[in-house]
Amino acid sequence: MAATAQRRAPARRKPGSARKPAAGKRRSPQSRHDGRPPEADVLVIFGITGDLARRMTFRALYRLERRKKLKIPIIGVARSEWGDEQLRRHAREAIAGSVEEADEGTIERLCKRLRYVQGDYDDPWTFRRLSNAIGKALHPVFYLETPPSLFAPVVQSLGEVGLTEGARIVIEKPFGHDLGSARELNAQLRQVLSEEQIMRIDHFLGKEPVMDITYLRFANTLLEPIWNHRYVSHLQMTMAEDFGVEDRGRFYDPVGALRDVVQNHLLQVLALVAMEPPAGTYEESIRDKKLELFKAIRDADPERYVRGLYKGYRQVEGVAKSSQTETYAALELEVDNWRWAGVPFFIRAGKEMPVKATEVSVIFKRPPRLGVGPRSHPEPNTLVIRIDPRPGARIRFLAKKAGEEAFDPADFQVLFERDPGAEPEPYERLLGDALAGNSQLFTREDGIEQTWRVVQPLLDKPPPVKQYERSSWGPTEASRVVRGICEWYQPWLPDGAKPG
Ligand code: BG6
Repeated sequence: MAATAQRRAPARRKPGSARKPAAGKRRSPQSRHDGRPPEADVLVIFGITGDLARRMTFRALYRLERRKKLKIPIIGVARSEWGDEQLRRHAREAIAGSVEEADEGTIERLCKRLRYVQGDYDDPWTFRRLSNAIGKALHPVFYLETPPSLFAPVVQSLGEVGLTEGARIVIEKPFGHDLGSARELNAQLRQVLSEEQIMRIDHFLGKEPVMDITYLRFANTLLEPIWNHRYVSHLQMTMAEDFGVEDRGRFYDPVGALRDVVQNHLLQVLALVAMEPPAGTYEESIRDKKLELFKAIRDADPERYVRGLYKGYRQVEGVAKSSQTETYAALELEVDNWRWAGVPFFIRAGKEMPVKATEVSVIFKRPPRLGVGPRSHPEPNTLVIRIDPRPGARIRFLAKKAGEEAFDPADFQVLFERDPGAEPEPYERLLGDALAGNSQLFTREDGIEQTWRVVQPLLDKPPPVKQYERSSWGPTEASRVVRGICEWYQPWLPDGAKPG
């Protein structure tokens, strides 16, 4: 977007102290009696005509509306010369394209909430018009579905018309492309907003099975005593996707797998798997424990990092013909604390893998040699937490096979699977939480900077990228990462899914 000559340089302000509008019509924001942030009284979506809104946001809004969780007006802002009616038509089309058998009454109710404000984000009049449209609402939630380069300017402009006081801002990755730029972005946002006002989406944190990790760990007293270096041999996390970058070449090529899914999604999951138990019920408890864990992860070692690029990637539209971007990343991390000292955490993520599967496997230590039967060294117990495609958990035990083959081991598995159909979907859940002022499932500035700190050495000294066949498990060199400890495991798939 072209910058206009009138744009003023951002002025430094104390958090939350943005200038009030000249007319002074707005009342002071209030918080709830229990000290929690107030519920939103209007939702404003910047970039409502864009791809994210079409694919995800309208679907999430529809689902919230259907569950009667929406009670407020929604204002869309974008540059297209649209009006309210065109936005409503667009919403209908987006819902038709993303929701099966959508209910007409729900769509109707949702459409009634929608209004449109047209304007360039670098035009101060856009924000004045928006201020008028918002009227007397005191607690707007601004969802910035814009390119990240516009986060800071839009927030600054909202501040200039007095709209940030009492507001919350929702933004979505990428939060910078390395440690330096992440810090810079945070500093720019914090010129206008306090940290409590910023809700950073990592959609993995809105996934039910990811939320369930904390519950599974701490609601089962069986697990906690063995969840440490005395009993756990190593952990593996796999995020495999059986498709390529499709039409996202232009976005993906400057990013790569490490930035796209490891620094954010997979490190967030790792933190939930490895953190200490949250203490008390205060809102920040989980995010504090995650931060502690991130701080305990050592800077990643480029020697323990393998990068791959699938054959055909360089022919994708928007990808450089000589691209060196990784579409596959395999690495080892170390968590340097009492609980995890010496336990390797292996992570791999790749596109064009044989299956779609995201899971965490906790592999326990082997028992000592058994004094019974010919098989003297049984396989270790494992616990697999499957995030995708169908959430579930599996614990693998060993028992004696029945019969005269005296002590042959038999695997038996404790399985727990569920159909994710009825659950709130990640965007629905996160948008609902943003409106309600519940920030637990959003990432925090300090945690984000820590995760960039962890991967920064890999960005500074990336090893050469190795090509791999499509529908394979990545470059053969990836076995180097786990060598001496284990193999990469085949993901546990739901019945009927095609195996790799
Ligand atoms: C996004 C990445 O953040 O997560 C994509 O940009 C990736 O490249 C996607 O495909 C995976 O999310 P999910 O929920 O489909 O597993």
